[in-house]
Amino acid sequence: MNRSDKIFLIGFMGSGKSTTGKELALRLNWSFIDLDEMIEQYAGMKIRDIFQHKGEPWFREIEKQELLGLSDVSKAVVSTGGGTPCFGDNMSFMISKGITIYLRMTPEMLENRLLYASYERPLLKDIAKEDLREYIVRKLEEREKWYLKAGMVIDECNTDIETMYSLIRKLVRE
Ligand code: S3P
Repeated sequence: MNRSDKIFLIGFMGSGKSTTGKELALRLNWSFIDLDEMIEQYAGMKIRDIFQHKGEPWFREIEKQELLGLSDVSKAVVSTGGGTPCFGDNMSFMISKGITIYLRMTPEMLENRLLYASYERPLLKDIAKEDLREYIVRKLEEREKWYLKAGMVIDECNTDIETMYSLIRKLVRE
């Protein structure tokens, strides 16, 4: 079996990609890479300021550039942004380079987690709290066609980190 040396965590905003990614990296003794942080470092500004001053198309361009730059990175868990798999060839790139894991959550869970976490997220800044659920349902429906291409779909409501770790252990190069 061809074992992999990279894991890409994908999923909707608020699905816990960074938290899960850090824990997985720790258990595997791999490094953890946050794609949003790489973009912020490249741009020298926060994601919300990038959207405001440079616009979303520029953000997507840099997102792609930074993702492709991870091609030769070894032994890393990469936490991507909620939109990363849904633009250009990003999803096929991730599939070709590593293990892709979709952290799946219900709109109810996502709503609870995002209700007070919209400040840092430019896509949510103009959504009223009472419209959040509807927005999530619609956006998730739109994006799941990419998310569901992932090699592994993990239902976060009933999967703890230990279970997740034991599932992926056999697939990675340790
Ligand atoms: C985005 C999600 C964000 C960030 C940017 C765009 C999206 O990352 O990349 O605000 O399109 O869903 P998180 O999923 O970490 O919030």
